[in-house]
Amino acid sequence: MQKFVIQGGRRLEGDIQVQGAKNSALPILAASLLCNGESVLENCPGLSDVYAACRILTSAGCHCDMQAQTVRVRADAPHTAVIPEPLMHGMRSSIMFLGAMLGRMQTCTLGYPGGCELGPRPIDLHLDALRRMGVSIREEQGTLQCTVPKGLHGARIHLQFPSVGATENIILAAVLAKGETIITNAAREPEISDLVHFLQCCGAKIEGEGSSTVRIRGVKQLSGCTYRIMPDRIVTATWLACAAAAGGALRLTGTDAQSLEGILDVFEQMGCRCSRNEDSICFSAAGPLRAVRSLRTMPYPGFPTDAQAILMAVLCTANGTSVIEETIFENRFRHADGLVRMGADIRTAGRIAVIRGVDHLHGAQVSATDLRGGAALLTAALGAKGETVLTEIAHIDRGYDAPEQVLSAVGAKIERR
Ligand code: UD1
Repeated sequence: MQKFVIQGGRRLEGDIQVQGAKNSALPILAASLLCNGESVLENCPGLSDVYAACRILTSAGCHCDMQAQTVRVRADAPHTAVIPEPLMHGMRSSIMFLGAMLGRMQTCTLGYPGGCELGPRPIDLHLDALRRMGVSIREEQGTLQCTVPKGLHGARIHLQFPSVGATENIILAAVLAKGETIITNAAREPEISDLVHFLQCCGAKIEGEGSSTVRIRGVKQLSGCTYRIMPDRIVTATWLACAAAAGGALRLTGTDAQSLEGILDVFEQMGCRCSRNEDSICFSAAGPLRAVRSLRTMPYPGFPTDAQAILMAVLCTANGTSVIEETIFENRFRHADGLVRMGADIRTAGRIAVIRGVDHLHGAQVSATDLRGGAALLTAALGAKGETVLTEIAHIDRGYDAPEQVLSAVGAKIERR
């Protein structure tokens, strides 16, 4: 099992080229299943989740090849509409292939994400929407058999919550369906717009991406295209958080400051300097940071839940008391235990965390509990005094492409063992 060994307390200085976004690469890989001919996806990050998505495509009968940051997918004749069980367990976003397989092959067999029953890991919004589009769903011993007896057709779908995954799945199912689909209260995350832009480039008719009403007019077929995946907002936020925790100045290139406003605003409240350029951000953090009185995670354009843990890591040593409210997920403070082991003063109760800034954190033996929680511990370790041993880093590899190389290049002392 691999781990990171980090010597904290070194300033970070230099340039980082930000990787492509995991959360747009995954649905776009699923979307490539809908296209005849070749899809060429550039700026695709080298992540275990991306490799898992490629395995799903291969097992469906597509040809999928990744060289450097470019994935080529040929989906001329996919023949197996089954999402393999281990991949469904390992990666929740395998669920994206449901809409794509239904759109292309009118059938899909899959297990529940994480192997749980419908209740605890809900995909109810996805399934309800697909039923409205003509999908029949039969459940047998934890396996969902989805078929389309009379063909997929457009529908009016109002989402009770603007779910990112449900919005994407509906779009994926609707692009080749008969007639028009209108989604209201759709999620507005930039990664959804990225998926839509890829599909438009392949010939799909979609309007309203980035707003809460998305209209899709089904077309007969799509043809693959060459497309560049957008930069990863959460990875950008992570490198900024690392510089805020350890002190230093970074220039992040190949990023999009516009999609990061909610996050940059919080860093500025803390006393960091962020200067926004067309495709780069210059960031510096010097001296003690200020606490943030209240931080609430919200659907885009609010503060993203995926950046909550990494901001908490920075707030541990900010002057004053910060309060974080997590409104998207019920149980997303599991990283707090590791931070406390490193000397942080954090109390959590339900969806609220209260962080009292301490003078410094110290190194400790800690474990990543999940992807962003792991990134939070890494962030904290860079600012802490002494050595941190961070285990269970497979969680981090799901979302960060060679983070030890990125951080070493700007002055961090971090080793993968
Ligand atoms: C996506 C992101 C994830 C991010 C999340 C919220 C990807 C691959 N993942 O996940 O990184 O943290 O958006 O920004 O893009 N819900 C239901 N029923 C459903 C679907 C969702 O109750 O059918 C609930 C979830 O339990 C959760 C909330 O809605 O409480 C938000 O989930 P959703 O927006 O769907 O997140 P994901 O698409 O899973």
